[in-house]
Amino acid sequence: MPDLFRFGVSLEKKLLDEFDSLLRKRHYVNRSEAFRDLIRQELVKEEWRTGTEVAGAVTLVYDHHQRELVNKLIDIQHDFQRMIISTQHIHLDHDNCLELIAVKGSAADITKLADTLKSIKGVKHGTLSMSSTGRGFK
Ligand code: NI
Repeated sequence: MPDLFRFGVSLEKKLLDEFDSLLRKRHYVNRSEAFRDLIRQELVKEEWRTGTEVAGAVTLVYDHHQRELVNKLIDIQHDFQRMIISTQHIHLDHDNCLELIAVKGSAADITKLADTLKSIKGVKHGTLSMSSTGRGFK
């Protein structure tokens, strides 16, 4: 278990009440765990901002009947294959596919890949989940 340090935080009563209310809604067991999560979120944001090695997932929803679209998605993924760790294809229904592309690499390259895939005509929805390699913090 890592060393734990305690520190005091001063907040206006109203802000603390709102924070506690949010913690209950999100099922945090205590404020410490919520603060840890907030701090980790900011550290991950900083990793993406400074362009260090990051990890994440691109999610795409599209109609597989559009063959040109499917070929473009494959071509682009081959162009960026260095940063693609794994791909999962899920047939959502008769028409729609969900593709999960797990990625690791520089923040700039991953953002470029995600933007390129999301902007292809026919992609119904695309997201980039910005996460971390986990090495930057405990
Ligand atoms: Ni499919």
